[in-house]
Formats: sequence, structure tokens, C-alpha cells
Amino acid sequence: MSALLDEQRGLLEQLSHPQRVQRAGRTFWCGQWCGHEVVLVLTKIGKVAAATTTTALIEAFGVDRVVFTGVAGGVGAGVNVGDVVVANAFIQHDMDSSPLFARYEIPLYGCSTLACDVTLSAILLEASRAGLISERGHFHREKQLETPNIHCGLIASGDQFVASAEVAAQLLSGLQTAGFSPLAVEMEGAAVAQVCHDYGVPFAAVRTISDRADAQAHVDFSAFVQQVASPYALAIVSQFVKLL
Ligand code: ADE
Repeated sequence: MSALLDEQRGLLEQLSHPQRVQRAGRTFWCGQWCGHEVVLVLTKIGKVAAATTTTALIEAFGVDRVVFTGVAGGVGAGVNVGDVVVANAFIQHDMDSSPLFARYEIPLYGCSTLACDVTLSAILLEASRAGLISERGHFHREKQLETPNIHCGLIASGDQFVASAEVAAQLLSGLQTAGFSPLAVEMEGAAVAQVCHDYGVPFAAVRTISDRADAQAHVDFSAFVQQVASPYALAIVSQFVKLL
């Protein structure tokens, strides 16, 4: 699953015998990649859209593993633009059914975080390392930035594009008070994780850090996606399908 059209374009070119299937207002591309039957789809934006897409992917296509690529805003210390975060779990930063349930707890699930599949995430981490080496951090050299770091940890999702340092600090402090330290924020992952959890389908996710969730967050966003996030997604997923 990809969050962005630019990202998906590169992946689509790798599919042999691509077939287009329309379902639930989404376009699913079925084909083969490295000897695997693969389905590519855009999640659309936000938790509900991502949940619908994931449900359709599992119900209509019977996928047995889900992997997500996209971009995110870095909120953890040292999580910089151009870095990559492989999720080990997701939380919804806008989930609040208090006082009925604890702040951040998913009602009736008895937990606030949903873990990603350990094996699939380990493969994705390995693929990210190999993919970034193959990309040789060209963006970083061009922009004279540090070599990209790969982080592994919690990602927080919510129906909000975080574009203010104050809002980001508030989100982070609420989560940290409750004992959670997310590395990044985005708008879909926790929903995909919850649907995969419900169906018992292994799930892993990787996000390239496009911004620091501050007032600069939207600046150069599409250029970043085209020049960095899309080549990274292609490099990482190409390694990932080889390692499966
Ligand atoms: N995806 C990329 N950057 C983001 C941000 N700052 N907030 C939410 N989702 C994002």
C-alpha cells in the first residue's frame, strides 16, 4: 500500500502482467513481482480511507501480508528529514474515549498500541538498509545533509496534518505523559494496523521523513515526494520483495 501516487508509479512499473481492478472507489493493481503475486493500491488519506482500503485489500484480494510505504513528519529527537522509520507499532494520537477508557486506548481492544509483525518488519528493516545503500543517499549529498538514518519504533497516526511546532509539541507531550514516545506522525498507519490485526494479517510499514511536523512541513512537500520518498520507496520495496 502506498500513500502517494508518485510513490506508487515507480512500483507499478515493476509489475509484470499488471491488471487493474476497481473496488470501493479504489484502483487495485494485481501482478507479479520477483515471483510473488502482488497487489498495489493507494490508501487515500486519513484513517477511515486507509481502513476501507485495507479491508477491501484483504476481503477481495485475500492478501496474506500487507506492507505500507509513505512519508511522515518526524517528532522524535534526531528523526530528521530524509531519515527512514520502520514502524514496530502504531498508536492513534487523536484517540480519546476518556473517561470511559484511558486516553489513547482503543475502546474494546484493551490496548493503545498495535504491534507490527516482527518477522515482516525485520525483513522491511533489512530491505530499508539495503535500499538506502543502493540509493546512495543522493538527495542528502545534493542538499548537503547527513547520511540518512534508519530508525525503528512507534509511529502515531491521526486525522491531522501536523504543521506547527506547538501542535507537534502538544501531541508529543500528551503521548509521552501516557508513556508513549513516537518517532513520527502520519495519517493512516494505525488504521491499517488495526484492520490487519482484526483479520490476523501480518503488517509492516516504512515511512520516509518528509518534514519535522512544523511550520515548514508543507514546503517542498511534493518535490520531496518526487525526488526522495518515491525513489526510496522503490529501492526499499525492490529489496523487500527479493528478501521475502
Ligand atoms: N505526513 C507527512 N508529514 C506529515 C505531517 N507533518 N503530519 C501528518 N502526516 C504527515
